[in-house]
Amino acid sequence: MGINVNFEGLKPFIREDEYTKIQPSVKMAHDLLLSGTGAGNDFIGWVDLPVNYDKEEFARIKQAAKKIQSNSEVLIVIGIGGSYLGGRAALDFIKGNNYNNKKHAGTPDIYFVGNSISSDYLSDILEMLGDRDFSINIISKSGTTTEPAIAFRIFKKLIEEKYGKEGAKERIFATTDKARGALKSLCDKEGYETFVITDDIGGRFSVLTPVGLLLMASAGIDIDKVMQGAADAREEYLNDDINKNVCLKYAATRQILARKGKETEILANYEPSLTMFGEWYKQLYAESEGKDQKGIFPVGANFSTDLHSIGQFIQDGNRNLFETVLWVKNAKNDIIIEEDPENIDGLNFVSGKSIQYVNSKAFAGTYLAHIDGGVPTIVIEIEKADEYSFGYLVYFFEKALAISGYIEGVNPFDQPGVEAYKKNMFALLGKPGYEDRKAELENRLKG
Ligand code: PA5
Repeated sequence: MGINVNFEGLKPFIREDEYTKIQPSVKMAHDLLLSGTGAGNDFIGWVDLPVNYDKEEFARIKQAAKKIQSNSEVLIVIGIGGSYLGGRAALDFIKGNNYNNKKHAGTPDIYFVGNSISSDYLSDILEMLGDRDFSINIISKSGTTTEPAIAFRIFKKLIEEKYGKEGAKERIFATTDKARGALKSLCDKEGYETFVITDDIGGRFSVLTPVGLLLMASAGIDIDKVMQGAADAREEYLNDDINKNVCLKYAATRQILARKGKETEILANYEPSLTMFGEWYKQLYAESEGKDQKGIFPVGANFSTDLHSIGQFIQDGNRNLFETVLWVKNAKNDIIIEEDPENIDGLNFVSGKSIQYVNSKAFAGTYLAHIDGGVPTIVIEIEKADEYSFGYLVYFFEKALAISGYIEGVNPFDQPGVEAYKKNMFALLGKPGYEDRKAELENRLKG
């Protein structure tokens, strides 16, 4: 069972003939992607990845995960952006966002570091790690990204002090470039086991590569099922007719709405365990489409929590929004609400009902209210938040994004804009070669 995409909530906002009109552009975008002739075609390895991934490496990932499970109480995962968000989204989606706090015999706690430059965050992780046995998965294509490189310096020193250089070698797993980069050179020198981030898959498309798979397997996630979900989605979304392909219809819908001034997309969920999926989606969509002064701004929202904060704006603020809802139909463990004889909160009308049932009515009520408030709404129904649906959804969003980006007329696979802040930061930190820029920036900051 894959996913079901419901477009009924668009009826007041999009006419059928608008889909007919955009169909040729969708077909052109689809042809560009599948023939490999579109912009950024060096980075479309993810398109066929679910069916042609490296099986030998996949087996090595499983072996490495077993080794980590056998000798480590904690796995420290170091990475940022595309080398972080997908793996963390998978862990939360499948195992819940309280994985570390729940009993999970035989699999390590997983701590993520190197995804910010916060000293307090890092200190907390060091404290939580304590003297427990641990391994490291450093994930970085370049090996020189500031955040993960700083964190790796700290944890490499710690692991070498605890187990000696030889022992540390058995506990450091690097996911990096096949041949180039600072981390690859270090791996060759030190003899760490390495997994490959291939050249034809950009960071934000890499969750189904060793970037995401090693930590998933270490946490006891069935990575065969994840890949099966993605492979089935790939098969399902091959048709280039938007009436027969909901992935392409979703891409077309986004572009039709953007042309009507709906330039912010809210990806909403009703499960805290999907918060990180929203973070993954934000990078995938923002980094791919937000360029050349174009793009749909992607926002994540966690309902019903955020209905008590940004709900007012969604209902009644600037009408530049549309909403895509991830609705998980079945809870893994549903709880029945009991009758309270005192009924002080007046909620006995839901006694005997399950919490999932109440959540479903919050979702249905919100869905109708937002449509009434002028928010076009797409619903993606997920049977259960498991391995298979995760793989399926990842592929759905990746392919829809590529099509949407090509219709928009941008290269969805580059990210030239992310270098600007780094150059300024390096200059201000005094990196050699940036002297002129440093002086100029410091003058501007003085005002
Ligand atoms: O999508 C991207 O390119 C970025 O998010 C990178 O993945 C991120 O900056 C990490 O880069 P690296 O893997 O080289 O450390």
